[in-house]
Amino acid sequence: NTDRRYRIAVIPGDGIGKEVMPEGVRALEAAAAAFGFTLDLEWHDFACCDYYARHGQMMPDDWKARLDGVDALFFGAVGWPDTVPDHISLWQSLLQFRREYDQYVNLRPVRLMPGVPCPLAGRKPGDIDFWVVRENTEGEYSSVGGHMFPGTDREIVIQETVMTRHGVDRVLRYAFDLASKRERRHLTSATKSNGIAITMPFWDARVEAIAPEYPGVTHDKYHIDILTAQFVMNPQRFDVVVASNLFGDILSDLGPACTGTIGVAPSANINPDGRFPSLFEPVHGSAPDIAGQGIANPVGQVWSAVMMLEHLGEAEAAAAIMGAIEATLVSDNGRTRDLSGSASTEACGKAIASLIG
Ligand code: NAI
Ligand code: MG
Repeated sequence: NTDRRYRIAVIPGDGIGKEVMPEGVRALEAAAAAFGFTLDLEWHDFACCDYYARHGQMMPDDWKARLDGVDALFFGAVGWPDTVPDHISLWQSLLQFRREYDQYVNLRPVRLMPGVPCPLAGRKPGDIDFWVVRENTEGEYSSVGGHMFPGTDREIVIQETVMTRHGVDRVLRYAFDLASKRERRHLTSATKSNGIAITMPFWDARVEAIAPEYPGVTHDKYHIDILTAQFVMNPQRFDVVVASNLFGDILSDLGPACTGTIGVAPSANINPDGRFPSLFEPVHGSAPDIAGQGIANPVGQVWSAVMMLEHLGEAEAAAAIMGAIEATLVSDNGRTRDLSGSASTEACGKAIASLIG
């Protein structure tokens, strides 16, 4: 937007979400001051299990009205399995946002970072740098199907994959578009048309139908089984990888795992047409095992702020935070315990903020 003023819903959630969120906000505020834009931060105490304890539900009935008009959601992590079962806490919060706001792209970077040990031998920062684009609303995760004759010899369960031309085309266009803006301009599609012989050939056909719209982008496809192997053996060959909901779910965990960053990785749930706000969050959960100790790594939250600023059009500020993250990851005073350092969550966040701008 032209006045460079952004309304952000800040939703820390549970566990370490409450600890890393202040550091994400610290970086955002430092970037706003350095690059001259304005943030209206609106903190919300819902979408967390404490709220559930008080109200018997994860969010107020009028949550949509309360979030009306925000430019983005900045989210921590949700879940506290000791008091609220995960299927309730996630379905009544995060999954509501993804669905109601039609966030049909789930986007995660796969990037080898300095200071983060890589589980793959012989790779250095710069060698691995690609994006996983996951379809986030349909596909294999459908509610079409049923369960009949439970507990009997006739028991039968069916769950059908739903792919619509609308749903497939829009995520493919997002991925092609992303690839067209990158240096290598290459798209890889995940398929399994040799086994899943109805929906996956359709997916492949839509890739071929849309590819001519992006003449500058080359593309190829791999069956999902060999693609997972290639993520491990030849990660340097990927630029943008697009996948259906289930395949994308797997690849978007495998990718960050291959770079050792699953604890520091960010993700975005994007509504690309801008009719609804998008949501930015670290990949990790609420980490009950370390919550309350002030030792959680805030980098995933801060890197999510980078993705949010890119989405809002503040590219310079985003790049400045990214540079500050990279410098902090190799510094002595900024690394948290999971990276063999001794910095607290707050010390790491302050180290990053001090390097912005
Ligand atoms: P988790 O990601 O919370 O933790 C897995 C392991 O990684 C733990 O040992 C934890 O201490 C460590 N870890 C995670 N983030 C870290 C950080 N920033 N710094 C240092 N160490 C970190 O996954 P888990 O334990 O399976 O789930 C815990 C809760 O979080 C559950 O309720 C789950 O449903 C929820 N969850 C929520 C997500 C979300 O809000 N998007 C995503 C994943 C899980
Ligand atoms: Mg997953």
